[in-house]
Amino acid sequence: ACSSSAATNFKVFRGTFVHSTQEEALVILEDALLGVDSTGKISFVEKGPELEKVSAKFGFNPSAVTQLSPQEFFMPGLVDTHIHAAQYSFAGTALDLPLLDWLQTYTFPVESRYSDLEFARQVYTHVVKRTLRNGTTTACYFATIHTDASLLLGEIANDFGQRALVGKVCMDRNGLHEHYKEETQESLDETSRCGNTFYIININITHFSRYPLVKPVVTPRFSVSCTSELMLKLAEVARNNNLHIQSHISENMDEVRLVQELFPESESYTDVYRKHNLLTSKTIMAHGCYLSDEELQIFHQTGSSLAHCPNSNLSLCSGLLDVRKVLSHKVKLGLGTDVAGGYSPSMLDAVRRTRDTSKALKIQDPVHQTLTWEETFRLATLGGSQGIPPQPKPSFRAFWS
Ligand code: GUN
Ligand code: FE
Repeated sequence: ACSSSAATNFKVFRGTFVHSTQEEALVILEDALLGVDSTGKISFVEKGPELEKVSAKFGFNPSAVTQLSPQEFFMPGLVDTHIHAAQYSFAGTALDLPLLDWLQTYTFPVESRYSDLEFARQVYTHVVKRTLRNGTTTACYFATIHTDASLLLGEIANDFGQRALVGKVCMDRNGLHEHYKEETQESLDETSRCGNTFYIININITHFSRYPLVKPVVTPRFSVSCTSELMLKLAEVARNNNLHIQSHISENMDEVRLVQELFPESESYTDVYRKHNLLTSKTIMAHGCYLSDEELQIFHQTGSSLAHCPNSNLSLCSGLLDVRKVLSHKVKLGLGTDVAGGYSPSMLDAVRRTRDTSKALKIQDPVHQTLTWEETFRLATLGGSQGIPPQPKPSFRAFWS
């Protein structure tokens, strides 16, 4: 697992490591050695007391090892699978309306301000710094409809060292705010411009990414604000360029009913996205509180994943997602803060609200099997990384045993 050319450049850490695997929700490795190669990838995990042997094998200086104190431990970065960077400006306020009214009254007017790049720079700098400080090393962001501000968000995330998926939001109908809507063709052209700048030009043509930590994500806001034509063509953009897709699904009952009215020919909310080719193995759908067993089966079959956003679900009184049921259908699931429907940008808060929601479900139904905190930790780390695979994951167990 280790290449000798990188051997002289290892950074080696010693201490307690806490992480998750598919088999075990929480693994604690006490007094372990972890080596990171010059590209930033973990190359080995070995036993601390075998320092002499390990340093000889991998060729590093044992006195240069960084040792943690007994009170400290290492853990994987937290993955926020759903956060609206632009809404950070009003996080913690305006939570007195249900979803559709909340969007019209508070959210669209604020998002319309991101044509102002100075305003965008201020808010986006704050949200990236804050989430990093809270342990979010990877974030899947919704920006706004504005391409230039979305590109700026990518630049800022990259500069501060956060891995980010950045979505220029697409919405060509039902944007009742007169300054916050786009035409279908404009939405498509701007999505391509955004993707080209982040990705296609950088990687395919020059073989050099301007923002190596950042990827574009195709972002139809949700079925309510997108025409059939826009969704079909966005799916094509995603397929032609092998891009991630993100949107919202089945968050609130009024929304579910409205989607049924807007797409009467579809069997369910999930069927709307499936018919528009938006359910792929690189799709992340937020919420999913009211998905039926049949819909969850479609998620499983297509390999699409869900972002569970418990703070937002509670704050906007949207619903209670039964994570146990989602997992029993073998659907990939991570956690999201959904700022500003969720009032906290911290993924540790998302962990707590995930357990609160699970316990609320148990109050309603005493046979409900609550999520353990070990499982919830796994959802916030490994769970999120399934929807947003950063790199193939090293298996600590394989090195260890
Ligand atoms: N559905 C469509 N847009 C949004 C949004 O900005 N926040 C939340 N929570 N749900 C949405
Ligand atoms: Fe959201």
